[in-house]
Amino acid sequence: MMNKSLAKNIAREHAEVRGTILDIRQEIRRLQSEAGPAHEVGNLRKLFASFAQHLKRHFELEEGGGFIGEYPEPGTQRVVKELLGQHRLFERDLDALLAAIVSSEEGKACLSDECAHELEAFLQRLEQHERAEIDLLQKTVYHETGGGN
Ligand SMILES: [Fe+2]
Ligand SMILES: [Fe+2]
Repeated sequence: MMNKSLAKNIAREHAEVRGTILDIRQEIRRLQSEAGPAHEVGNLRKLFASFAQHLKRHFELEEGGGFIGEYPEPGTQRVVKELLGQHRLFERDLDALLAAIVSSEEGKACLSDECAHELEAFLQRLEQHERAEIDLLQKTVYHETGGGN
């Protein structure tokens, strides 16, 4: 069971995550289009570091209150297990990506193509994950309200 305010909080956070993904993509594009030492990666590092903190808290919220926690709704066990496994992989990826951004920054270099590519691949995996959760959230809320509107 999941209470309605938790469902609302998670839905609100999903909108925030979508917004930050757009901000990160914009920052990557800016770094790629403005080559030169004046355009360092400090902004991206700050943005990504706070995004990493937010995502880790977001995963805790999702795992702590009966959404994708230990006791999934009947019929959702398989997808819940997958989503939980993805959280652990994302946590590992967040730390590795942040380290890659920091090493670009220390070299006062523009973001490397490889780092930009890895970031974009991460953002796409995250978008896919969040979409699966939005589906699950809708099904769970629908199920709990007895299928009414
Ligand atoms: Fe999640
Ligand atoms: Fe999520």
